[in-house]
Formats: sequence, structure tokens, C-alpha cells
Amino acid sequence: LASSLLANYCTELHDDQAHKVDKYLHQFQLSDKTLMDLSIRFRREMDKGLCRDTNPTAAVKMLPTFVRSTPDGTEQGEFLALDLGGSNFRVLLVKVMADGKPAVEMEDQIYAIPEHLMRGCGSELFDHIADCLANFLEKLGIKDKKLPLGFTFSFPCQQTKLDEAVLVYWTKAFKSNGVEGKDVVSLLRRSIKKRGDFDVDILAVINDTVGTMMTCGYDDHHCEIGLIVGTGTNACYMEQMRNLELLDGDEGRMCVNTEWGAFGDDGALEDLRTDIDREIDAGSLNPGKQLFEKMISGLYMGELVRLILVRMTKEQLLFQGKTTAELLTTGSFNTSYIYAIENDKDEEGLASAEKVLRGLGLDPLVEDCISTQRVCQIVSTRAAHLCAATLVAVLRQIRDNKAAEKLRTTIGVDGSVYKSHPEFSRRLHKMVRRLVPDCDVRFLQSQCGSGKGAAMVTAVAYRLAAQHAE
Ligand code: GLC
Repeated sequence: LASSLLANYCTELHDDQAHKVDKYLHQFQLSDKTLMDLSIRFRREMDKGLCRDTNPTAAVKMLPTFVRSTPDGTEQGEFLALDLGGSNFRVLLVKVMADGKPAVEMEDQIYAIPEHLMRGCGSELFDHIADCLANFLEKLGIKDKKLPLGFTFSFPCQQTKLDEAVLVYWTKAFKSNGVEGKDVVSLLRRSIKKRGDFDVDILAVINDTVGTMMTCGYDDHHCEIGLIVGTGTNACYMEQMRNLELLDGDEGRMCVNTEWGAFGDDGALEDLRTDIDREIDAGSLNPGKQLFEKMISGLYMGELVRLILVRMTKEQLLFQGKTTAELLTTGSFNTSYIYAIENDKDEEGLASAEKVLRGLGLDPLVEDCISTQRVCQIVSTRAAHLCAATLVAVLRQIRDNKAAEKLRTTIGVDGSVYKSHPEFSRRLHKMVRRLVPDCDVRFLQSQCGSGKGAAMVTAVAYRLAAQHAE
């Protein structure tokens, strides 16, 4: 009897606390109707970005990538790849085998990018990249080979061909001087030339969404969407050339990098943004920019939770009204804490909450742990649902393009939030299926990361170049 009473008490306490948090954060909970409305709104933003007249003022840039086809399985050779813009900077050597055999990643090395380079002088950043590449080639003893190279550069770039990419502006945690408005391929070539001890053949620059679509496309030929929910969030998809008004030609398809992180930068999300979202933005490296991304991605999710906890404490709703210096420190609530706190085994999740809160110098009651867990759930659920809304707009666009009643398609996905959060992917899938019940969508988690995608794109470019030369 005693144990069942205790269990009852716990459930009640739990429901009670959760209810209080729900009430406090009601603005973070979006109904299906709101999400559907958001999806329709985003579809209009996509149109705005695709049309020649409206593109210059569109918040969602819909950037042409000059990637026209996914691999056909005949490409082969050895390729270098660089991957900059996610949680790590990586250099890879990828061997692509013909006959549809899966590509083999031969070598891969992670290098640190010191903070002073992420937000310092641009030419020093590219010198550093060249140094890392040199180190990698030296280690493998292939410094004298001039290998083709693909560059995954995960920022918005204006491209006029595959091997030229002008950075529109930095996003996420990068803000290095003198790079915006410049072609990153030229900057990299210059840094390599300055060293003078090796050479490479830079054939392609791609976004990480494109890399993800390409690697997944190698395994599943229905893959025509690439999605990232990691440090940042974004998606690309295969669009009909006839809808890409910015480019000549009506035949075939081209991959478009939506840069959906910038959704709302023209005020289109003001009814959904909360005071907390405004606070995050105000304290960020790029105020007024990437407003949709700041409601979702890993770079901001932990900070959203922290800011909510601070507010609730100041309103006497948590920790008996007592904050600590750590809780008040920007960035002290790592997004990875959310993954642990939302562990599906409630007990473990609550134990993690207690550990995290103690780590922030707090002395939490059970109620505080329950509330913190609820705050995490609400923030990460909103993120998954917002992603679902924009993804559904992309799905509808593809379906309308094909004039198909029922669309069968595959979405290649990557990113730390998608992969490491215990519930994010399930919530995202569920909401997508609820909003477009008439689409048969397969989510395929990228196994090899976006860097390998750059090697794939380079392999395709290399094959096409060879065919032209014949
Ligand atoms: C940011 C970048 C975008 C990238 C995304 C995911 O939104 O602007 O290019 O794809 O992060 O890394």
C-alpha cells in the first residue's frame, strides 16, 4: 500500500509540475493548425526566393547549387574532402568505387578551429585550413599527388558554378572578417599557393544539406531532400529547372539550398517568436539573422532552456527563487544536457536533471527536476514541430512538381540534434506524417557525414569533366 501511495504521489506531483510549466510556456506549444499555417507561409517564402522579381528581397534565399544529378554509381577514384561549418572541421580522403559498391572512407582527421580564427581574420582562417590539409597529406604520404577536392562549406553561398561560392554571410558560431562577399574557393586556393608545398584540384563547393542528400542518394535513389538539424538547421531538395527563374534553361532538375534558417528574418515569424527567442537573438553573433534557426538548432537549444529557467527562477517558480552565478552564465546549459534529461526512462532523465542542476550550483528539489525536464521537452518538441512544418512545405512542392497524388520520397538526414536527442527524430517523423498523410516519406539517417557527400559531388563532377574531355 505504502509503495502504491508513493507512486500515486509521484505521478500527481509530476503532472502538477508539468502542468505549471505547460501553462508558463503555452506560447511554445504549437497546434497542428498553427503548424499547417506555418507550412503554407513557408511555401510562399520558397516561391518568393525562386522567382526572379522577388528573390532580391526574399528572406529565404533558395540558392542554386549547380548539383544536377545524384551519383549514378559509375564514378570512381580517390578524392579529398573538407568539411567546415558543423561541430567539427574534418579532412577526408575518400575512395569511390565503381559498380555501385559503397564508397569507402579511407582516412579522416578532425582538426580544431581555434575560436580566434572562427571570429578573427578571414585569411588566417583559410591559411589554417590549408595547414590542416598539408598536415593530412603529409601524414598519408600523398603530398605530391594532385587530387581532386570537394569542399563542404555549410554557410549560405551564391554560386554561379560548382567550383565557385561567394559567402553571403556567416551564420552559427563563425564571424571571420573579410570573407563575406568573397569566393571561398579563391581564398582557399590563395592560402594553398602561399604555402607552395602541395597542390589540389578544387572541383566543387557544396552545402552540408547537399552532401547529406548525396550520400544518402548513393544508397537510395528516391532521395531528393537533404535535411540538417545540428549546430544549425537547413534543407535542400531537387527542384525543377523551370521553377528556378534565376537560371536559364528549363530542362531537368537542380538541387536548391533553401537556407531555411533565415525564415522570419523579414518579420514573417513575429507572431510565433517569444520574448525568449528575442533574447537569444539579441545576445547572438548575428542579431536579426537566422531567426528560424535560433528557435530550433543545437547551437541555441540549451541556451533557450537556460533563459527559461532563469526567468522562472526570478518569478519564484523554480529553485525557491534562488539563481546562481553559473545558471546566469551564457552558454552554461549545454544542448547535450537536454539529450540526457529527456532520456525516455523517466527516472534516469530526472537523475540527469538533478546532476546538471547541481553542476550549475543549484540545490534542486524533485519538483525543480521535473520542471526542468518539462522545459526541455517543450523546447525540443517545438523545434521538431517547426522543422516538420517547413519540411512539409518542401514535400508539397516536390509533390506538386511531379503532379503526383501520392508522393513516395526519401529524406536524407544528419546533424547532432537529430542523431543524439532521444525523441527528436520520432517527434519530427510523427508530425510530418500527420501534416501530410498522403505522402509516403522515408527518413534515412546519413551514416557517413556531409564530408563524404563533397567527395561524391566531386566524383560526379570529375566523371562529367572526363566525359566532356573525351
Ligand atoms: C546554417 C547555415 C546553412 C547550413 C546549416 C546547417 O543554417 O547557414 O548553410 O546548412 O547551418 O549546418
